[in-house]
Amino acid sequence: MSETWTFVCATGELLPGEMKTVFDEVTGTPILVVNHEGTLYALEDKCSHEDFELSSGTFDPKDASIECVLHGARFDVRDGRALCAPAYSPVPKFPTRIEHGGVWTRDDRD
Ligand code: FES
Repeated sequence: MSETWTFVCATGELLPGEMKTVFDEVTGTPILVVNHEGTLYALEDKCSHEDFELSSGTFDPKDASIECVLHGARFDVRDGRALCAPAYSPVPKFPTRIEHGGVWTRDDRD
């Protein structure tokens, strides 16, 4: 398991309703970080339907969901669960932290 955190951006560059994508420094996993009402959430930037990048989609703060542009599956950014077809599997969720004025995340899977 990687203990190395990946720098996302300065905290001021990720405001409520905004999102950023980074690649995990160790595993290369694409990670999507979303600021939802001041809380940061990180998911793998990969739709569980056909591996398309979720960051091309739109974040909807009303229900904290992101919609995949390819076929319209939606996921809750707070826990990664699929909210509608054609996706049924959740997207992996990763930790975030704020340190030294920056936002950090990492792929914490084994
Ligand atoms: S690839 Fe995302 S809904 Fe099909």
